[in-house]
Amino acid sequence: MKLMQTLSRIATYNSHGENSSYFQGWQEYEKNPYDDICNPEGIIQMGLAENQLSLDLLESWLASHQDALGLKQGGKSIFKELALFQDYHGLPAFKNALTDFMTEMRGNKVLFDPNKLILTAGATSANETLMFCLANAGEAFLVPTPYYPGFDRDVKWRTGVELVPIHCTSSNGFKITQSALDEAYQRATKQKLHVKGVLITNPSNPLGTTMTKDELDLIVNFIDAKGLHVISDEIYSGTVFNSLGFTGALEHLIDRNLKHNEVWTRVHIVYSLSKDLGIPGFRVGAIYSNDNQVVAAATKMSSFGLVSSQTQFLLSSMLSDRKFTSKYIVENQKRLQKRREMLVSGLSSAGIRCLQSTAGLFCWVDMRHLLSSKTIEAEMVLWKKILFDVRLNISPGSSCHCAEPGWFRVCFANISEDTLSLSIKRIKAFINNNSRHHKPGRHSRTMSLPKWVFRLSYSQEREPER
Ligand SMILES: Cc1ncc(COP(=O)(O)O)c(C=O)c1O
Repeated sequence: MKLMQTLSRIATYNSHGENSSYFQGWQEYEKNPYDDICNPEGIIQMGLAENQLSLDLLESWLASHQDALGLKQGGKSIFKELALFQDYHGLPAFKNALTDFMTEMRGNKVLFDPNKLILTAGATSANETLMFCLANAGEAFLVPTPYYPGFDRDVKWRTGVELVPIHCTSSNGFKITQSALDEAYQRATKQKLHVKGVLITNPSNPLGTTMTKDELDLIVNFIDAKGLHVISDEIYSGTVFNSLGFTGALEHLIDRNLKHNEVWTRVHIVYSLSKDLGIPGFRVGAIYSNDNQVVAAATKMSSFGLVSSQTQFLLSSMLSDRKFTSKYIVENQKRLQKRREMLVSGLSSAGIRCLQSTAGLFCWVDMRHLLSSKTIEAEMVLWKKILFDVRLNISPGSSCHCAEPGWFRVCFANISEDTLSLSIKRIKAFINNNSRHHKPGRHSRTMSLPKWVFRLSYSQEREPER
C-alpha cells in the first residue's frame, strides 16, 4: 500500500530559510542566553533588529492614558464594540492616526490617504500579501543584496515567487548600479523567470543606509521602461537620524513630478510599527498603494492577518496624540544615533570598521581582514568563532545573500548599554588575544591571520556550512 504523505508541498518546501545561519544563531542564543546575573558568560544577542531604546516613552504615555488601556472612551467602556468589530477595512480612527504618523515621519513631504492603506499583521504579512497580489508562483522579483534574511520566508515560501539578487558590492558602498540591475534582469530571463518587479528596503536592512536620489532614479526609470512594480519596504523610515533625512519612494515620485505617470500606481509601500515604535509583538503593519485594484485585492486578503481591534484602538489613541508622536520621533532617533556611535567607536578601537550609515538598528561591519580566505567557508569559520567563543550572536553577510565574504550585521538597540559595553570588551579581548598569539609573516596576507583561523579552518570540530 502506498503511504500517504502527511504534509503538503508548501509545508515541506525548504525556502522558509530556517536553516540559514541567521536563524541558527538565534537557536544557539536560546540555548545559552546572556544574563548579567544568572548567566554572565552566556551568548549576547546582537542578531535581533529590535528597538528597545524608547519603550519607556511608550510606557509613560500609557501610564497617563488609562482609558486607552482600559478600552474606554471618555470614561465609558467600549469593550463590546471592540470585541465585536471584525471589519477588514480596519478602524477608521486608527488608519487616520497611522497615515498621519507616516506623513509626520517623512517631514510632511507626502500626504498618505487612509483609503489607500491596508492594515496587516506586521510587515511580514504586508510583504507576502503584496507578493500574492502582484506575482504568480514561478514569477520573480529582483532584490538588491545584501537583503533581510526573512524575505526568503516572507515573500518566497508560500507564494512560490522567486527572488533574484541584484549583486551590490563594497566598491561603492553597496549602492545599486545600472549594470547590477541589468545583469540581474538578464540572469532572471536566462533562467526563464518572468520578472514582475523590484523589492527594495529603504532604509536598508542590513546596511543601515538610505537610498540616494540616483539609486531611486535608477529604479524608477528601470521599472518604467520595463513595466514592472516596486515594493518599497520602509519599515525603518523612522530610524533615520541624520539631518539630510530620508526620501521614500512616493516622495521621490512627487519630487520628479510623476504623480500622473503610470509608475505612480506601480510603487507600493510596506510599513510597520515593529521598528520605529519598537512593538513587533503588537503585529501592526500596512500596505500603501495608489493602485485601486491592489488596494481592493490586498484588503480582501488581509482577512488572513488582521490587526486586533483592541490594538488598533490603543494605538489610535497614542498616535493621534501629536505632541507625543513628535517628541517620540525626535527622542528615539537621538537615542539610536547615540547607540550606533557607541558601537562604531567601540569596534573602531578594536580595529574593526563599519559601513557609514544613518538609519536602522544595526551596523554593517567589515571583518574581511579577519578571514583566512575570501570565501563563504572562511566567513562561517569566523562567525562560529564569534558565536561560540566570543559568545556574540551576529549575522553573517552570507545569510543576507551578500556575495562578498567578511561582512556581518551587528544589532545595537535590543540590549542595554552595559551589555553593549560588555560585547565590545569581548570583541577587543578576542582581537588582542589573537594578535598576541600570532607573529606576522613577511608578505603573505594569510600569514598575518590570527592563529585560530588556521586551527578552525582545518579542524573537523565545527564543519563550515556550505
Ligand atoms: C526589512 C524588514 N521587513 C520586514 C520585517 C518584518 O517586520 P514585522 O515584525 O513588522 O513583521 C523586518 C523585521 O526585521 C525587516 O527588517
